[in-house]
Amino acid sequence: MTGTILVAGGNGYIGSHVVVELAAAGFRPVIVDNLANSKPEAARRVAAIAGAKVPLLVGDVRDGAFLDAVFEAHDIDLVIHLAGLKAVGESVAEPLRYYDVNVGGAVGLLAAMRRHRVRRMVFSSSATVYGDPVSVPITEDFATGATNPYGRTKLMIEEILADLVASDPAWRAVSLRYFNPVGAHESAQIGEDPNGIPNNLFPFIAQVAVGRREKLSVFGGDYGTPDGTGVRDYIHVVDLARAHVKAAEALLSGALATGAHLPINLGTGRGFSVLDVVHAWRRATNRPIPYEVVERRPGDIAACYADPRLAASLLDWRAGFDLDAMCRDHWRWQSRNPNGYEEAA
Ligand code: NAD
Ligand code: WQD
Repeated sequence: MTGTILVAGGNGYIGSHVVVELAAAGFRPVIVDNLANSKPEAARRVAAIAGAKVPLLVGDVRDGAFLDAVFEAHDIDLVIHLAGLKAVGESVAEPLRYYDVNVGGAVGLLAAMRRHRVRRMVFSSSATVYGDPVSVPITEDFATGATNPYGRTKLMIEEILADLVASDPAWRAVSLRYFNPVGAHESAQIGEDPNGIPNNLFPFIAQVAVGRREKLSVFGGDYGTPDGTGVRDYIHVVDLARAHVKAAEALLSGALATGAHLPINLGTGRGFSVLDVVHAWRRATNRPIPYEVVERRPGDIAACYADPRLAASLLDWRAGFDLDAMCRDHWRWQSRNPNGYEEAA
């Protein structure tokens, strides 16, 4: 399929992989990003992988005049909205900043889309909207209830999309609820490059493996899970990116003409414990990965994994990469770029 897709936040970890897959599928991606959490080198590498020019338009999704210029210069068919802030702890400390950037950014982007009659959006939501689920696996009709400001911004944006689609049937919107995205492109040219101490398990282990950190702290060994450590649904970022292509195709072809906003889980449907992940990293790296079990991290839940059948039936999408491939590709990126994009600057 062809078409021009504005990828807001397209210079970030997930967005850069989405742009590569869009280009591979025949779309023309246009990146909008304010570089708050990414470096221009990412877009240069994306263009090299894609073998195509990919415009990087530097600006903020809250800036209406900037967005008007983007929509006037490019004939946009659909928007994939990944721009925003994503650190749970930071959102507790700075809620207004999160509501401003995430909710304000989404409203600003949707308003600009309406001005330019672009009414197709794929939104980056999160499994965090399920809060502490009553059971696993999680289907899309489970009760939602975020437990922190970051999660509430995702829920609010989903509700805004639902209201918008209900107000005008010309709109179509899908919220992709990501479980735990990990891994990197097989070229090892793009990947996750967190600032400071990583909050998330994979980037932390990657830095232990590469020798930047001494050992992993395993947050809690007394959950009601098979080995007592937290269980999550890790999903390879390239699988995740391909689901965005499928969602864009389904919205543009009219295959998802439901007249309602659709939330769709993106996960593998399998849960792995922290210790399963440590063992997989040892296999992938042939390195020891020292760890110590410490106190639970406040706000964490025991187990969270998806029922991914709706994505299979509506988007014809299934995850293809297993946990070993996720570790292998994350490691290839980390070991070839021990300081992320930094040395290339
Ligand atoms: P990221 O920080 O790597 O990417 C986000 C990008 O958005 C960055 O390049 C940043 O510079 C840009 N950005 C931030 N604020 C902006 C603004 N106001 N205007 C324009 N650009 C802006 O994060 P990511 O991991 O790629 O996540 C992408 C999206 O997916 C986010 O919305 C995040 O909430 C969501 N998500 C991520 C995860 C995860 O574990 N990584 C899980 C679920 C959902
Ligand atoms: C995974 C498991 C930890 C780090 C977060 C956000 C969520 C979503 C994805 C955006 C848990 C354990 C972790 C460490 C550990 N993001 N862990 N030591 O918490 O499932 O989800 O990222 O939407 O909103 O909350 O991911 O990678 O932080 O943790 O033991 O140093 O690893 O306790 O069981 P989480 P994570």
